Amino acid sequence: MMEISVTFLLTGCLIQGVFCGFSISLPEKVEALQGSCVFIPCTFDIGQSFEKDLTDDSKRIWYKDGNPFSTTHSVVFDSSSPDIASLKGEIFGTPTEKNCTTRFDNVHQSDNGSYFFRVEGSGRLKYSYTEPKEKVEIVVIDSPPKPTVNLFKDQQKVTEVTGVTEVKEGSSVNLRCSTKIFCSSRPANLTWTSSPEHLLNESVTQQQRQEQTKLISDLIFTVTHRHHLANFTCTVTHQLQEQITKQETRTLRVQYAPKNTSAHVSASGFVLEGRSVTLSCRSDANPPVLNYTWYRDTEEPLKPVQSGQNLTISNTDPTHSGRYVCTAQNEHGAQNASVMLDVQCEYQEALLIYSQSLLYQTSDFRLYTYTHI
Ligand SMILES: *[C@@H]1O[C@H](CO)[C@@H](O)[C@H](O)[C@H]1NC(C)=O
Ligand SMILES: *[C@@H]1O[C@H](CO)[C@@H](O)[C@H](O)[C@H]1NC(C)=O
Ligand SMILES: *[C@@H]1O[C@H](CO)[C@@H](O)[C@H](O)[C@H]1NC(C)=O
Ligand SMILES: *[C@@H]1O[C@H](CO)[C@@H](O)[C@H](O)[C@H]1NC(C)=O
Ligand SMILES: *[C@@H]1O[C@H](CO)[C@@H](O)[C@H](O)[C@H]1NC(C)=O
Ligand SMILES: *[C@@H]1O[C@H](CO)[C@@H](O)[C@H](O)[C@H]1NC(C)=O
Ligand SMILES: *[C@@H]1O[C@H](CO)[C@@H](O)[C@H](O)[C@H]1NC(C)=O
Ligand SMILES: *[C@@H]1O[C@H](CO)[C@@H](O)[C@H](O)[C@H]1NC(C)=O
Ligand SMILES: *[C@@H]1O[C@H](CO)[C@@H](O)[C@H](O)[C@H]1NC(C)=O
Repeated sequence: MMEISVTFLLTGCLIQGVFCGFSISLPEKVEALQGSCVFIPCTFDIGQSFEKDLTDDSKRIWYKDGNPFSTTHSVVFDSSSPDIASLKGEIFGTPTEKNCTTRFDNVHQSDNGSYFFRVEGSGRLKYSYTEPKEKVEIVVIDSPPKPTVNLFKDQQKVTEVTGVTEVKEGSSVNLRCSTKIFCSSRPANLTWTSSPEHLLNESVTQQQRQEQTKLISDLIFTVTHRHHLANFTCTVTHQLQEQITKQETRTLRVQYAPKNTSAHVSASGFVLEGRSVTLSCRSDANPPVLNYTWYRDTEEPLKPVQSGQNLTISNTDPTHSGRYVCTAQNEHGAQNASVMLDVQCEYQEALLIYSQSLLYQTSDFRLYTYTHI
């Protein structure tokens, strides 16, 4: 009989009109962790003509849906005899407050299912809230899910491509960990760790807050190249009958302009005239250096002499001596490094050996070595 009323949902009334005003507000679904309690926020209302039948002695009953093809619903909780109910727990407040908020304790896998509420007052007030939207589904899970970690930049979630989160150096970001919390006498907590370890020390702000059934922890910091390929792990600790921890890790990929640019000469000390020499430039950048450019500081104005990471001069002469600047560049910026090249004449080397063997004074020796510069 009552099932037929589904068609009249629009008006919220049954065809006879007498049930007008009956409504209940509860979540469609609540998740419960095996062995823990579950909290169902709930308020209900009854038809005006039944108000006088609702007293603080009224019974409040929870039923569990049976097989949908049968009418066997079982009473799982009855406020008038809470001790004999199959589920232990509590309905908060008094019936006249029309608050049916309920806590069920020690929920098990067998309690997984759909539940509905019934109120039985004096007189004709006997009503079950059995419309599909009036039922609550208790979904029992055996272990808590992992927390989720997301990166936000300018309040926007940064979408990750295959588990990797790419962000630019200098951006101010918010790494957010959130986890569902379950009904428990002791609160859950979130902790952050990083690898390498020290990253959480420096200028990182941590904030933790609770939003309904979610616990959220924010890490707010400015991204530097030191965060490149660092792992940030959020661990949630649920204090249930035993302590259960779950964690999630996010790897940050940072895009940065060239860093640690350095230039080197293939020979140590000086290069003999006529020999070949290679100047090489190295730099760390992400994405990698797009182009290296070499300059000489004796040329005015400075103009590129050669592009490429390595600059080879195959037939050196003393005019090649001087300072060389290498510019490493990627889409995020450029950085310079310089190196001195010293090309010396063959006879100078002979002189050098000679001078060393004769213990010539340094000042005299200079006269010869620098004649070509
Ligand atoms: C119903 O009772 C619960 C538990 O006492 C309370 O948290 C909630 O605010 C009440 N709801 C309303 C609408 O009064
Ligand atoms: C729990 O109940 C829902 C329906 O209420 C069902 O979809 C789900 O499969 C059940 N889960 C288990 C583990 O029985
Ligand atoms: C969170 O739990 C860990 C592990 O039990 C504990 O060391 C830490 O002090 C807790 N933090 C807070 C804020 O409760
Ligand atoms: C981050 O995690 C990945 C995957 O587990 C691992 O290969 C990598 O070595 C970690 N990086 C650091 C800096 O610990
Ligand atoms: C960072 O924290 C670790 C332990 O948490 C501590 O040993 C270390 O000295 C700290 N480093 C800095 C730079 O504060
Ligand atoms: C640059 O070199 C220093 C010292 O070796 C190192 O600490 C730093 O991480 C390097 N930076 C980059 C971007 O590789
Ligand atoms: C490096 O390459 C980019 C793109 O090809 C170009 O715009 C830029 O001028 C080059 N830089 C130098 C220093 O040649
Ligand atoms: C430049 O030289 C270095 C070492 O001398 C070498 O590892 C690198 O591959 C060379 N780069 C190019 C572009 O040839
Ligand atoms: C690098 O050196 C070149 C040539 O000396 C100069 O034009 C450029 O401004 C320098 N760039 C940086 C980033 O210092």
